[in-house]
Amino acid sequence: MEYTIAPLFCRPWTLNGISPHLIESHYESNYGNALDRLNAITDELAAIDPATTPAHVICRLKRDEAALLNSTLLHELYFASLGGDGRTLPEDMASAIAGDFGSVSRWRQEFIALGEGLAGGSGWVLLTYIPRDRRLTNHVASDHDQNLAGGIPVLALDMYEHAYHLEFGANATAYVAAFMRNINWDAVLQRYRNAIKVEPPPRLEQKQFPVLPSITPEEVRSMLDTGKPVQIIDTLPRHYSTRAQDIMEGATWRDPERVDEWIGELSKTDPVVTFCVYGFHIGCETAETLRKAGFDARYMAGGHYAWKAIKGRVKRLD
Ligand SMILES: [Fe+2]
Repeated sequence: MEYTIAPLFCRPWTLNGISPHLIESHYESNYGNALDRLNAITDELAAIDPATTPAHVICRLKRDEAALLNSTLLHELYFASLGGDGRTLPEDMASAIAGDFGSVSRWRQEFIALGEGLAGGSGWVLLTYIPRDRRLTNHVASDHDQNLAGGIPVLALDMYEHAYHLEFGANATAYVAAFMRNINWDAVLQRYRNAIKVEPPPRLEQKQFPVLPSITPEEVRSMLDTGKPVQIIDTLPRHYSTRAQDIMEGATWRDPERVDEWIGELSKTDPVVTFCVYGFHIGCETAETLRKAGFDARYMAGGHYAWKAIKGRVKRLD
């Protein structure tokens, strides 16, 4: 495919303290060159035969392609970030930022600090929405290929020297302040509204247990740490227990094949958490059996290994 040029998304003559000359040079030379090189490398990739080209050559070309593609995408976002008065955040944008950062001023201080921290170096400062967590975060991409996986950047500050040297010299602080004065918040909000429509990545669906309630390992840990009464049952299958060496601290191992034998020992007033190796079938099945018998039972998502992955305490399994 051929990548085509995007027109400037901001009107350079309306900017406050950033001259049209700076934007023109940035757009023509840096964005334009990245696009030109991206198309050259795309042609190069199309012309090679992956079956006969050395792997390291393909790898180098693909790495360069990713950096150049990101450079064009981020430059387009940078130009689209400018053109407003920087101060007036639409209410929805202000409340989203305040919700994810504590306050707009805290967000602003962090974003500015990231820009100033790149003075004399190079990189991007990005405000990015992460669908998995349904929240915004600030981050630095110190090269063109360091974006957050799955993240959708909604505001970009270019901290490569070519973005400001021509006019601000080494005074990165003045450039960052000028950028902040020109943020087009209406455009940021529009991108944010589009970003939040993206669903988090789907989890593995357990079709046989569609309505069974689960609990996260972090929630279980918090119950234990705060001394909330909870009955934790490790239902590791008996054949598996010969391989297992440890068990969650605070959990009791029970044979999932013999629920009838131990169900009478459980209290109906305190919640029950069950789990197995990975939090799939056995733990779910036990939780379901207990719920049918009137217990407040849930299965721990991710099971034994998720507990270990969050560094939950374990003891030797005898
Ligand atoms: Fe740039």
